[in-house]
Amino acid sequence: MKQFYDYYNNLVRLSFEDHPFSENPKHVWVICRYQGKWLLTEHKERGREFPGGKVEEGESASEAAIREVKEETGAVVENLRYVGQYHVDGKGGTIIKNVYFAEIARIDEEEHYFETNGPVVLEELPNALRQQKEYSFMMKDEVLPTCLERIEAVL
Ligand code: GTP
Repeated sequence: MKQFYDYYNNLVRLSFEDHPFSENPKHVWVICRYQGKWLLTEHKERGREFPGGKVEEGESASEAAIREVKEETGAVVENLRYVGQYHVDGKGGTIIKNVYFAEIARIDEEEHYFETNGPVVLEELPNALRQQKEYSFMMKDEVLPTCLERIEAVL
């Protein structure tokens, strides 16, 4: 288990155990790989981030992950693997989020991308993400680098 503070100074706990904080988390986040590149989305307010969102009623977290990737980027997930789970003690309450790693089969062009402007495909993620104003706060704490290390090591 790792503990740190996020971009907004909220306490975050991240673990690679099997669902350590909740069996049924309400949020998902999906690190996507497409043809050797990273697939992100451009959120209209938050900026560039890996796709994700809330688990809907009657849906499992992994179903939500696949749906959110499709809605926000048009991408079809071919292989989805659980990476870990994190817990944020936010000002507006607690959120628990599953992190997945997804391999993308293809990206379809969509009419609309919900609350985003659609897919962003990058060869490399920029360094010093914290200083990049076009990137979302979600990309600016230890969750991303720690999960990327984990993906590299075991997935
Ligand atoms: P809507 O209900 O869709 O309007 O979203 P919201 O932004 O009000 O709520 P959400 O439940 O998505 O998140 C609530 C708060 O939790 C956010 O304002 C953030 O402070 C925090 N939060 C959500 N997701 C993350 C995340 O991935 N990382 C971090 N560090 N904080 C997050």
